[in-house]
Amino acid sequence: MKEVNAHISGGLKRESFEASWTGRIEHMDTVESTQEEAKLLAERGAPEGTAVMAEAQTGGRGRMGRKWHSPHGKGIWMSLVLRPGLPLALTPQLTLLAGVAVCTAIREVTGVQAGIKWPNDLLAGGRKICGILLESSLREGRLHYCIAGIGIAANLTEEDYPEELRGIGTSLLIEGGGIPVDRTRLAQAVLEELEYWYRQYIREGFAPVKERWEAMSVTLGRQVSVNTPQGRSEATAVGLSDQGELLLRKDTGEIASVLSGEIELI
Ligand code: BTN
Repeated sequence: MKEVNAHISGGLKRESFEASWTGRIEHMDTVESTQEEAKLLAERGAPEGTAVMAEAQTGGRGRMGRKWHSPHGKGIWMSLVLRPGLPLALTPQLTLLAGVAVCTAIREVTGVQAGIKWPNDLLAGGRKICGILLESSLREGRLHYCIAGIGIAANLTEEDYPEELRGIGTSLLIEGGGIPVDRTRLAQAVLEELEYWYRQYIREGFAPVKERWEAMSVTLGRQVSVNTPQGRSEATAVGLSDQGELLLRKDTGEIASVLSGEIELI
């Protein structure tokens, strides 16, 4: 257990608490995906807060079946076991919670003013700096555990990106003016923030996450193109619902909500 002091940085104040997740990190060199490693641990009964971190992933994965570029020693490729005992329908809130926690840690440790693009991307300088993938496992129709996968492009240079990702992905090194990121310090801050926000969420519900998410969002107030299983449409993003859906105002003035899907900022 570790006492984490209150900190004040760019308005990111919070009270101190007893952090315990930073003591349960499995560090590996090269794996196919930390998601799979964390699942194995969860299946064997690993406690909540167990984290797997790898230097490299050969089969890192993102949302929508995409690959996640995970070169050796350049990023934070991490998966965290959670056992929230929530109805399955509420798990998208955990993605938003993870976005808030990671964005807070990034701003605090590096000073890079990352922002959150709904639902789970962190952007800096208009490009993606971090992705979050939440995978849930069910047992007898109920949520058994969740694996929160977090990929932070810490020290990648432009050359570290394959051609197709240049212009889309960036890193804390690039956005921070060439100053290398201390990955250990950042990973610890990420886990501390995750633990802090998660405990508060279990205690108090979604409202504090919603408030911080809206403050850190780069989505709200923007015209967006929305891609859902029902099709593509354009609208203005205006807020989050109390459940964590993105609220959209159509040209007609009508308010619609989406719980999952993807958006593009226009
Ligand atoms: C996305 O933006 O599509 C989500 C990307 C999530 C990437 C992380 S890296 C650690 C963990 N292991 C994986 O294979 N994926 C997640």
